[in-house]
Amino acid sequence: MILSGSASQSLAATLADELNEPLGFVEYQSFPDGELLASAPDFEAHRAIVVASTVSSDAHLELLQLQDAAREWGAEEVVTVLPYMGYSRQDKAFDHGQPISARAVARAISSGTDRVFTVNPHEESVCDFFDVPAKSIDAAGRLADPLPDDLIDPVFLSPDEGALDIAETVRNVYGDGVTDYFEKKRLSGTEVEMTPSDTDVTGRDVVITDDIIATGSTMSEAVSLLHGRDVGRVFVTCVHPMLAGNARLKLANAGVEAVYGTDTIERAVSQVSVAPNVANRL
Ligand code: R5P
Repeated sequence: MILSGSASQSLAATLADELNEPLGFVEYQSFPDGELLASAPDFEAHRAIVVASTVSSDAHLELLQLQDAAREWGAEEVVTVLPYMGYSRQDKAFDHGQPISARAVARAISSGTDRVFTVNPHEESVCDFFDVPAKSIDAAGRLADPLPDDLIDPVFLSPDEGALDIAETVRNVYGDGVTDYFEKKRLSGTEVEMTPSDTDVTGRDVVITDDIIATGSTMSEAVSLLHGRDVGRVFVTCVHPMLAGNARLKLANAGVEAVYGTDTIERAVSQVSVAPNVANRL
């Protein structure tokens, strides 16, 4: 039986269809003091699949509660699916006295589960922080699905070298085009300095791919640079469309043709589901 965190209900429902497995009823309550209570009043199965993108501290809490509720019902196996793993980008202590937040949350999640799957983590090595077997699922290929069939001489760009594999995957699934990447230097949490790629983009359609759009600073800077170079249409696509704050406005102002993401984070731009990719691994 699938138990969903409140932020992952659509993906959980799609996954239930894919697996032909029941979707458990979950109640989400909060108390006046701010404490939460996610409960599964009708659980009945040997295996619980808890699906919860940890997009907020509350989502983290719900996940831990649902794991525990499944154990209370006597589930023999608890599998945890983190479509998006919050805090995964804090995968090292960047200064003295800082925690390795990704490790801290991974340890907490491990305590209530037998195994973990997470979709396109920022770094694969984050899986090593769990105390139970943890594996990543690559859903980047899905990002080719919503792209128009008529891209002109397409260029698939990543905003930095680290995300080039995503651009290559999307290009390979799309079946046409070249790949390249920008050089990126992060100046602060909301500011980045980008250097354009060498590929000539004049008159060509460009698809910029990344693992996540958070504040939108990286993507909007990349889009602006391209428009200074007489580019064709610019599409922006990512696995995790966090789109925090005014990210969507930044992208619109920068001049994107369309923004696409998956349902690891449920947003208006979540055009494709990672459910088939997750189902294949369960
Ligand atoms: C960083 O290396 C990631 O791949 C993303 O490029 C980055 O986290 C996006 O963040 P933002 O949207 O805030 O620029």
